[in-house]
Amino acid sequence: MPKAIGIKPEDWRFCVAPMMQYTDRHYRYLARRLSVHARLYTEMVVASALVRGDARHLLAFDTFERPVALQLGGSDPRELALAARMGEDFGYAEINLNVGCPSDRVQAGRFGACLIAEPGLVAECVATMSDAVQIPVTVKTRLGVDTLDSQPHLESLVSQVAAAGCAVLILHARKALLNFSPRANREIPPLQYERVYAIKQAFPALPVVINGGIQSLAECSRHLAEVEGVMLGRAAYADLDLLARVDEVLFKAAPKPFSEAGLIEGLGDYVERRVAEGVPLRHIARHWAGLRQGRPGARAWRHWLGTHLTRDGSGAAPFIAEAARLLRALEGSPEGEQTPALRAS
Ligand SMILES: Cc1cc2nc3c(=O)[nH]c(=O)nc-3n(C[C@H](O)[C@H](O)[C@H](O)COP(=O)(O)O)c2cc1C
Repeated sequence: MPKAIGIKPEDWRFCVAPMMQYTDRHYRYLARRLSVHARLYTEMVVASALVRGDARHLLAFDTFERPVALQLGGSDPRELALAARMGEDFGYAEINLNVGCPSDRVQAGRFGACLIAEPGLVAECVATMSDAVQIPVTVKTRLGVDTLDSQPHLESLVSQVAAAGCAVLILHARKALLNFSPRANREIPPLQYERVYAIKQAFPALPVVINGGIQSLAECSRHLAEVEGVMLGRAAYADLDLLARVDEVLFKAAPKPFSEAGLIEGLGDYVERRVAEGVPLRHIARHWAGLRQGRPGARAWRHWLGTHLTRDGSGAAPFIAEAARLLRALEGSPEGEQTPALRAS
């Protein structure tokens, strides 16, 4: 049965996009300290890897990160349903199906963006997953693939997945080009926000989240006049200050004083716990590069982080104390600097 009935579309008002090698559990823990309301997505997990591999390792997350959506890749309905059930049992809040990734690896596995050409199969996957779990099943896709990118084709895909039980549609406002790299696919196909708005108008009952190229909270507010939610990837990752303002600007939460040094000190217990489990410190702290983005001292901070990340031997506590000391000094620094946006790999 569709889970759309009973969901609260405001839960998708601001989402941080799934990003391989970026939105891992350590990033999500940090992101949750910055925003109570943001909806966080895992990196894509391939359903077959989950079903046949080390599910405990692939699914592990800290309850503090909740709500977290698990993004799955795959096109075998039975395998996806099993993987979705595992995600639900682990405590994820949503299962999202990736119908937009254009990498060679996913094309060989017949999932991701190439599924845009197979709406019937996507609908079957959604229906089977939806039957297997109580939590919402959602779809993240693009406007089209290669020459198959007309609005009627997109409408047909959306109508079939909605009928199959898709609770929320996340639309990256570009088509996918299968002969280009994933990186090129995030820049070359033009953004067409108006086509996402048109889908919202054609499917008024289906909550729609718009994604692609959104850089600021002011832009988010403009999109939110048209659709239920916005999803930011690179900007949310690269600019932690933007994430720190989401609750106040988009959810009307009371303003909270924000100190980057205080944030890092507050992560101390988490870092110590993970390091005690054998996680290298650099796997956690590499996500802190987005602190001071576009503000005085950004370069000095990134330089310090870059040179100290490799020194795992010194221990978590001294690393955190030193990082906090530097950030506190930079918070009062007069040096002005603008930094480029994240160049994703
Ligand atoms: C490094 C990187 C990894 C990504 N990995 C995934 C992924 O695992 N699943 C997915 O659906 N999209 C993935 N994406 C695409 C993002 O979710 C998002 O759709 C895209 O970056 C456009 O949003 P943005 O302009 O706000 O970054 C990735 C993007 C980047 C930059």
